[in-house]
Amino acid sequence: MARRRRIYEGKAKVMFEGPEPGTLVQYFKDDATAFNNQKKGTITGKGVLNNRISEFLMLRLAEIGIPTHFVRRLNMREQLVREVEIIPVEVVIRNIVAGSLAKRFALAEGTPLPRSIVEYYYKSDELGDPLVSEEHITAFGWATPQDIDDILALALRINDFLLGLFLGVGLKLVDFKLEFGRLYEESGEMRLVLADEISPDNCRLWDTKTNEKLDKDRFRRDLGGVEEAYQEVARRLGILLEGGPNDLKAPESIQ
Ligand code: TMP
Repeated sequence: MARRRRIYEGKAKVMFEGPEPGTLVQYFKDDATAFNNQKKGTITGKGVLNNRISEFLMLRLAEIGIPTHFVRRLNMREQLVREVEIIPVEVVIRNIVAGSLAKRFALAEGTPLPRSIVEYYYKSDELGDPLVSEEHITAFGWATPQDIDDILALALRINDFLLGLFLGVGLKLVDFKLEFGRLYEESGEMRLVLADEISPDNCRLWDTKTNEKLDKDRFRRDLGGVEEAYQEVARRLGILLEGGPNDLKAPESIQ
């Protein structure tokens, strides 16, 4: 098979040129980083699980009318996606106090928020993803006021839906991060779509009964049982691996 052109390599994924114009192949790695790359490691099988978990969630969201970049899963570690222009803003939605919100305001982790909070961070590794306001986003031309309105409405719909979906499998959706992209149709029309991935790498998920953390905080905070946590999320969502747990140990080489 001909070598594919690598378009972009991030911390957890690689984007390759897709089979048709306007498509990309999104490859999920086992690499994990935290605190803006200061902590590095490998979570065995993470790429396989996140590929499946993100596929599952993107498909459920598409069913309720959320436009996404997802086309179809290609294999254990790859999915075909529509090529979009990523808006350089990380959209964080919070339902329960945790992580940087707990730190910034000296709040106890686990305190339910009276209403969901949406925050924007400028996507820049060099700057450490600083918190920004709508004013920064529009003044610096990262998105228009209309884009922000659309993104906020989508983010809240996604949050409502995912809160219920996860609650149904005994998980609290504490907070999560989304990315959106501009999709240019052949007609020249532009649509905002949900891009990137939704997985335990970018969600905080706690067991509803015990508050056990089942997400990347196990890696960030050296809590142990990292692989098992990702597997547990997949298991609860009813995502079964074709070849059983052994599937997780045989990463396909990146072409
Ligand atoms: P935070 O509490 O560290 O700001 O994180 C909020 C949520 O966003 C949490 O679910 C993890 C996710 N997140 C990312 O996906 N990427 C990032 O770079 C950061 C900082 C957080």
